[in-house]
Amino acid sequence: MPSEEDKDPLVITRPNPPAKSLPTRVLQLFVLFFIVCITFGAVSVYTIRHFGVQSSATAVKSSFQPCYVESNSLDHWIRPPSDLLHTMSDEELFWRSTMVPRIKKYPFKRLPKIAFMFLTKGPMPLAPLWERFLKGHEERYSIYVHSSPSFHAQFHPSSVFYKRQIPSQVAEWGRMSMCDAERRLLANALLDISNEWFILLSESCIPLYNFSLIYNYIAKSRFSFIGAFDDHGPYGRGRYNPDMSPEVNLTEWRKGAQWFEVNRRLAVSIVEDTVYYPKFKEFCRPACYVDEHYFPTMLTIRAGSQLANRSLTWVDWSRGGAHPATFGRADVTEDFLRRIVEGRNCSYNRQPTSTCFLFARKFAPSTLEPLLALAREVLGY
Ligand SMILES: *[C@@H]1O[C@H](CO)[C@@H](O)[C@H](O)[C@H]1NC(C)=O
Ligand SMILES: *[C@@H]1O[C@H](CO)[C@@H](O)[C@H](O)[C@H]1NC(C)=O
Ligand SMILES: *[C@@H]1O[C@H](CO)[C@@H](O)[C@H](O)[C@H]1NC(C)=O
Ligand SMILES: *[C@@H]1O[C@H](CO)[C@@H](O)[C@H](O)[C@H]1NC(C)=O
Repeated sequence: MPSEEDKDPLVITRPNPPAKSLPTRVLQLFVLFFIVCITFGAVSVYTIRHFGVQSSATAVKSSFQPCYVESNSLDHWIRPPSDLLHTMSDEELFWRSTMVPRIKKYPFKRLPKIAFMFLTKGPMPLAPLWERFLKGHEERYSIYVHSSPSFHAQFHPSSVFYKRQIPSQVAEWGRMSMCDAERRLLANALLDISNEWFILLSESCIPLYNFSLIYNYIAKSRFSFIGAFDDHGPYGRGRYNPDMSPEVNLTEWRKGAQWFEVNRRLAVSIVEDTVYYPKFKEFCRPACYVDEHYFPTMLTIRAGSQLANRSLTWVDWSRGGAHPATFGRADVTEDFLRRIVEGRNCSYNRQPTSTCFLFARKFAPSTLEPLLALAREVLGY
């Protein structure tokens, strides 16, 4: 079927049909229609042959609509959604996004991507820093933004954040609605079959290394990075409710900050969960902060041996209180950034390493300028 744009020229170039007999006119229209279809068919076959899967993303971005209603080629199944603002409910989205092929080998060239998932209140003040970090790596990442539903993002079409907003709902700290938002981000990102690693970030996060290093660090890790530790104190095991057993026992109860990195398999197991979710929803309410316990505990039970049990995102709790420190313009100096990056000790693929954190938070909007000035020399991008 031709689209509206294809039909228009035909109508415009021949506004008055009275001279010729009807069958000839119909025949002419039919022949033109046929030519248009063949042309579009040839163009789409050429595009698919020559640029494969990656080009379908760009094709979609440029709103190029080939001449078909329903495709019977594989492309139909591996093309990422053209519009992130779908009309699916969470229930429909979660069902759709947890469809998993059972054959491990992909029958097409798949360049695995990192999905950067931003859980935000609204604006993204550090967007220019992220743009610089991501520049030149378009084939290896995708972006998803969950913001407060009342917020309307206005990014320039040239921005990496343009039209990357997903259907969002209110998310409150310490409540199940926060975990719902994180699962919603995962589910939306799972719809693109190229996404292999999923990183949860906030608008106050910054990358600490160049893209290549971060990509390789994540791609070559045998473990997914999520903070999960067994805290025997009142803010750890003290928040466990025995009503959660037998699905969740005290010995599996874990705690960790919400900023995770998981691979595709674990992302699916988070979105598909119907066993632990109701237990946490009912029995982990403030002062049990569910976003600190649900994913670490659930993944420990389901896939403990695949977890690094540490987060990739650095925060500063040294100032004390219920919230970590937020850094302002005056804090951001070369010394300060080097102190975050250097002098660490942790394990990576069971070997000691000094590269422990790939991201850091919380950076106030006022830090953008000094960060842009220092990033090239200190952070490598
Ligand atoms: C990224 O950073 C690493 C470590 O700092 C460096 O060895 C590498 O050359 C950088 N890569 C690029 C493409 O700049
Ligand atoms: C919790 O303990 C019960 C009884 O010992 C056991 O049946 C159940 O499998 C345990 N649950 C988990 C998640 O290990
Ligand atoms: C993380 O903890 C789980 C148990 O909770 C353990 O099985 C796993 O080996 C740990 N991961 C690493 C990298 O040590
Ligand atoms: C890091 O920790 C490991 C194991 O505890 C130790 O062998 C190594 O010397 C430490 N490295 C540094 C730089 O502190």
